[in-house]
Amino acid sequence: MDRLQKVIAQAGVTSRRKAETLITEGRVKVNGKTVTELGVKVSPDDKVEVDGIPLEREEPAYFLLYKPTGVISSVKDDKGRKVVTDFLPEEVEARVFPVGRLDYDTSGAIILTNDGEFANKLMHPKYEIDKEYIAKIDGIPTKKELNQLKRGMRLEDGKTAPAQVKMLSADGKKKTSIIRLTIHEGRNRQVRRMFEALGYNVLKLKRERYGNLDLRGMNSGDIRPLKPHEVKYLNQISIKK
Ligand code: URA
Repeated sequence: MDRLQKVIAQAGVTSRRKAETLITEGRVKVNGKTVTELGVKVSPDDKVEVDGIPLEREEPAYFLLYKPTGVISSVKDDKGRKVVTDFLPEEVEARVFPVGRLDYDTSGAIILTNDGEFANKLMHPKYEIDKEYIAKIDGIPTKKELNQLKRGMRLEDGKTAPAQVKMLSADGKKKTSIIRLTIHEGRNRQVRRMFEALGYNVLKLKRERYGNLDLRGMNSGDIRPLKPHEVKYLNQISIKK
């Protein structure tokens, strides 16, 4: 049995707090009866409706995908390109979606879940979940430029938060380098834009880590369920901060 507001939030309708408002405003029905108090608990068999629309309820499911390049971070694509949910084992019926996105050309760690509340929490900038990227750049940034990346880059949507930056290797002949960049924001194409602001192109980009989840033991295209302690940990970071 779970609290009604939690069940509504998990179904992805809205946040838990806003679900409380929906309840007190008399917009929620359980088994056909309007419920306006907040203490009510419901079981998976109870029929919950919000504004007359039945809530689609499923057991929460959580996966980590090692997304290959050439795959869209979506559940469907009009142009028929591969999408992240194509990698789910056939027996999985849960209607999961990606938490945030990786570019079509970026590979690496991405979570898939049907738990809307969990996804919203992870994506909320205030929880500052670390994301570690390995980027191959068409040049060898100077120390000064690496420090600029660390302090924050001025982009068209504002200055980026301080980042951790380490040059892992540089190829003087090919004039390329491999850089590890750890950020906690999740703006659109952020890593590529940070390097572009310095005048470098990102030739390859991989997300090696998302919070406590890394790609150890996985190959491109592999998917695995998250372990209960991994889900618990991510839930806790997003509560603590
Ligand atoms: N930053 C990018 O530029 N691309 C991604 O896919 C993720 C982060």
